[in-house]
Amino acid sequence: MIKKIYVTRRIDETGINLLRKKYNVFMSFKHTPPSKKELLKRVKNVDAIICTLNERIDSEVMDAAGDNLRVISTFSTGYEHIDVDEATKRGIYVTNTGDILSEATADLTFALILTLGRRVVEANKYVLGKKWKYGWMPNLFLGTNIFNSTLGILGLGNIGTAVARRARGFNMNILYYNRHRLNRNKEKKLGVNFVDKDTLLSNSDFLSIHVSLQKENYHLIDINEFKKMNKNTFVINTSRGSVINEKSLIVALGKKWIAGAGLDVFESEPLKKSNALLQFNNVVILPHIGSATIQTRSKMSEVAALNIHNILEGKSPLFIVNKNSKDVLI
Ligand code: DGY
Repeated sequence: MIKKIYVTRRIDETGINLLRKKYNVFMSFKHTPPSKKELLKRVKNVDAIICTLNERIDSEVMDAAGDNLRVISTFSTGYEHIDVDEATKRGIYVTNTGDILSEATADLTFALILTLGRRVVEANKYVLGKKWKYGWMPNLFLGTNIFNSTLGILGLGNIGTAVARRARGFNMNILYYNRHRLNRNKEKKLGVNFVDKDTLLSNSDFLSIHVSLQKENYHLIDINEFKKMNKNTFVINTSRGSVINEKSLIVALGKKWIAGAGLDVFESEPLKKSNALLQFNNVVILPHIGSATIQTRSKMSEVAALNIHNILEGKSPLFIVNKNSKDVLI
C-alpha cells in the first residue's frame, strides 16, 4: 500500500516534491490553515502529517487520523501546537525543522535592532507622508548608536548565538543570561559575558529574547522585569509572543520605562486592529516573518519531508522532538 501524507496548507514544495515521488501526498492549495473540521477529515488514515504552527495537533486529531499515523512533522522549529506527550504515548514521532531557521531569524532580529536604534520606520513614514520639507536637518530623527552599545541576549541557544555572532561586527558589549552557562572557552570564542537575569535587564541597550515557549517561559518578561529595565532599553522579540506579558509591555511603553520595542511575535496572531501596541511610534511590528526567506523556507520544506521519509523508511529523522521517549517509539 502506498503511504499517505497530508500537508495542511500550501508551503514551499521543495520537500513535497521529494515525497511525491514515493508517497501519496495531499497538500492543501490554500495558504491559510484548515478549519478544525477540515483537519479532522483530511487526516483520516494518513501515515504522516506536515503541519504548521497554526494547527493544534491534539488527541482529537490523532484519533481522527487512526492507527496508521507514524509521524507529525511540523514545518517550524516551535512545536507548542502539538501535544507531544500524547503523541509519544501513542508511539507517534514528532519532528521539527531544528535549527534551520536560526540564521534567518538572527538576521531579522538584527534588522529590528537597526530599525529601532536608527528610527528607520518612523523616518520612512515621514518621507512617505510627504513631510520632508527642509533637506538635511541637524535634529531630524536622532537615534542611538548600535556600534559599541550593549546587547542583552535572553536565551543563548542557536538563534541567540547567531545574533551574538552578528553583534561582534558592531563591536557590541554582549551580555547573556541562559539557564545553563556556556563553558568559559565557548564564551570567550563567542565574545559573550554571562550575567544574572536582573543585570541583563538593567544593563541592556537592546534586549533580545530567544527562549522557547515552555511553561516556565510564559510571561517571563512581566511588569517586574520591565521595571528593572532602563528608559534607553529597546526590547526585541522574535521568539514567541507569550514570553512577554503584552499588557505589561503596553504599560512599560506608555510610562516610558523603555525606549521602544521590535516585535515579530504576539500573544495572539494576527494582531487585533484594536491592539494598543499599534499606537506607538517607537514600536516596530512585523507579521511573524523570522524564518521568511526563500532559502530558509525551502530548506524547512526539505527537512520536514526528510523527517517523514526517514521514519517511514525505518531510519532516524533529522530532528526529533520526543527524543527522550525512544523506548515508546519503534
Ligand atoms: C518557527 O519555526 O517556530 C517559527 O516561528 C516559524 O517559522
